[in-house]
Amino acid sequence: MFFQRVAFKSLALLYLGTILDVNASVIQRASSSPVDNIIHALNGIDTSGASKLPDAFSFDGTYTIPQQDTLDLLRGLAITTKRITFTYGPPVGGGPYYPSGIGGIARSALDTLAINSDVLPELAGSALDLIKLTAQIGNYDGLQTVDDYVKLYANNLENTLPKGPDSGSLTNFTQDLFFSSERLSHSPYQIRRLNPSSDILSFQVDDATAKSISGETLSDLFNAGRLFYADYRDQANLEKSAQFSAACDAYFYMDEKSGSFLPMAIRTNVGSNLIYTPKDTANDWLLAKIMFNVNDFWFAQLDHLARTHETIQISYMAAIRTLSEEHPVLGMLNRLMLEVFGAQPLAVVVLFLPGGIIDQIFGHSGRAAQSYATDYYQNKGSGSFKSTYFKTELRSRGLIDCSYGPDLKHFPFYEDGSVIFSAIETFMTSFVDSFYADDSVITGDSEIQAWWKEAQGPAKAIDFPSILTKGDLVDVLTHMAHLSSISHHTINTNELLEMSQVLPFHPAALYKAPPTSKGVTNVADYLPHFDKVILQLLVGGLFARPKLVNTERTLLHMFDDANLLSRMNDQTTAAAAKFKRDMQAFSSQVSLRTFDAEGLSQGMPFVWKALDPNVALYSTTT
Ligand SMILES: *[C@@H]1O[C@H](CO)[C@@H](O)[C@H](O)[C@H]1NC(C)=O
Ligand SMILES: [Fe+2]
Repeated sequence: MFFQRVAFKSLALLYLGTILDVNASVIQRASSSPVDNIIHALNGIDTSGASKLPDAFSFDGTYTIPQQDTLDLLRGLAITTKRITFTYGPPVGGGPYYPSGIGGIARSALDTLAINSDVLPELAGSALDLIKLTAQIGNYDGLQTVDDYVKLYANNLENTLPKGPDSGSLTNFTQDLFFSSERLSHSPYQIRRLNPSSDILSFQVDDATAKSISGETLSDLFNAGRLFYADYRDQANLEKSAQFSAACDAYFYMDEKSGSFLPMAIRTNVGSNLIYTPKDTANDWLLAKIMFNVNDFWFAQLDHLARTHETIQISYMAAIRTLSEEHPVLGMLNRLMLEVFGAQPLAVVVLFLPGGIIDQIFGHSGRAAQSYATDYYQNKGSGSFKSTYFKTELRSRGLIDCSYGPDLKHFPFYEDGSVIFSAIETFMTSFVDSFYADDSVITGDSEIQAWWKEAQGPAKAIDFPSILTKGDLVDVLTHMAHLSSISHHTINTNELLEMSQVLPFHPAALYKAPPTSKGVTNVADYLPHFDKVILQLLVGGLFARPKLVNTERTLLHMFDDANLLSRMNDQTTAAAAKFKRDMQAFSSQVSLRTFDAEGLSQGMPFVWKALDPNVALYSTTT
C-alpha cells in the first residue's frame, strides 16, 4: 500500500513535470510557476518517517470492549506500547499537540502521503485548467470591470470545477439577499443574533437611514431580537501581506413582515472607518460587501482549521493512546479520522511559510494566519469540544431555538446539516447500544474511561466531556463525525471554487487600500490582477476534490466499509445500511435542487449543494 502510494506520487509528479515543461512559458507568464511551487512544497514535507506502523497499531479480529476480553493479556501491553511510541509532540502549524514518537511520526507521514496522493491528481487537473484559462486571456478584457471577472468562468475550469460555480453566484451576487444568505449557508460560523438583555450595539446607524432600509430603527430591531452582528475587528492589527484588507463588522436584520434576512450596515474599522449601507451608491455598497467578504473568507478558512482539523486531531490522539486497536470505538475513529494528521504539515508548507499562498493572495501574512488560527483554537472557542456541538453552538449564537427573537425563516446550513447530523446520531446510537447494554458498561470500560481522562489531562483537549453515559459517548462520536464531514465540507474542499472563492464577489484580499472616502468609481480596482486570479483558483483547485465525487470516499459511505463492519456486529451493519439509504435519499433531493418561481433556492438567490452526501466527503482531507 505504502509503495503503491509512493509510486503513484512519482508518476503524478512526472506527469505534472511534463505539463509544466510543455507549458512552462504559459504558466510562467501567468505567475512564476505556482504549480511548481506547490509541488516543491509538497515534496518538502518530511515523510521520511513513513514506514509500517508498529504491530500494536493494527488488529484485524473482531472488535471487543475490554469487559468482553478479560483473558487477553496482550491487549493492555499493546496499549502500553502505543503510549510509548505515539506521544504528544509540539504543534505543527499551530493548534494542539501533533503526533511524535516512532508510531506518531509513522502515522503522520502515512497520512501526509495519503493526502498528497489525493492532492496531486487534482493539482494536475488544476494546472490544465489554468493553462487553458491563461491561453484565453484575451477573452477577459484585461479584467478592467467587475463584469470581466465573470467571464473567467466560461467553461474554463473543466477539471477543478466541472459543474461550474454554484448557480446564481455569477448572476445574482450584487443582490443583498445573496450576501446575507452566505452567512447562513457556506460561511455560517460568525453571524450571531444580538441579545437585547446582554449585548450592546458596537456602532450606530442613524434612525432615518435604518428606517429607510428596514422600516425600523436599529434599536427597534435590537429590542425585537431581529438584529444580527458579524465582527471581524480582530483582523485590524494582524501582520500585513503585500495586499490589503479592512476589518469589518456588520449588522444584518430580519424584516418584521417578510422575515427576510438582509444586510443593514458594514463598517470598515480601518482608515477613516467608513460605515456603508444599502443606501450608498451601488459601487460603494458592492465594495463594502466585498471588503466584508475578504474578512469573512480569512476567518472562515482559518477558523475551519481550528474548529475541525485541530479539534478532532487532539481528541483522536488521546483515543489512540488509550483505546486498544481491538476496541470498536477506535475502529470507528480509525475510519472517520482518515488522513487527519496530514493537514497540518500541508498547511505549514503550502499556506503559512513566508512566500507561501497566504502571503501571496491574502490580506495578511502566513505567519499571522497561523497565529490567528491558533488563537481561535486556544482562546476563541473554536477548539472547544462540547460547546461546539452542532446545535449547542448554533443555539449559543441565537440562530436556533432563540428565546428572545423569532426563528430564521431559512437557515440552509442548519437545514441540510441537521438531516445528515441526525442520521449520524442515529447510527452512533445503534453502534453504542450494540456494545453497551447500559451506562454501567460505559463506566466499567476502562479504556473509554482512560480516553476522556487522557483528553482532559495530558492531551489538553479543550472542553472534552467526561464520558459516563451511553449518551455522552454517542455525543462525542457524533461530534467527531460531524466536524470531519458536515462542518469541514461546508467551509472547505469543493465549496471553495464553487462559492466562497467565486470572483468577483470573493477575492481573498483587496488589491488597493480600503478607501478613505465614499465614491468609488470602479470596484475592479480593488480586485486581483490576472496572476493573482490564477493563484486564487490554483488554491481552490488544491483543496477541491472533484475526482472523489461519487466515490466511496463521500459522506454517503461514512460507515460503508465491509472490513470495519464485518468486525462489529449485525446491529451496527444494519444501522450502517440505514444511514446509507437515508443519505442516498437526501442526495437525490439536494442534487436536484434548483431555483423556484421567485428565483430562489432554500430562500437564497443561489443554489447551494455543498452537503450533497454524494459530493461532500466523510473525512477531512486537506
Ligand atoms: C438568480 O440567478 C438565476 C440564474 O443564474 C436566475 O434564474 C434567478 O432568477 C436569479 N434569482 C434572483 C432572485 O434574481
Ligand atoms: Fe480543511
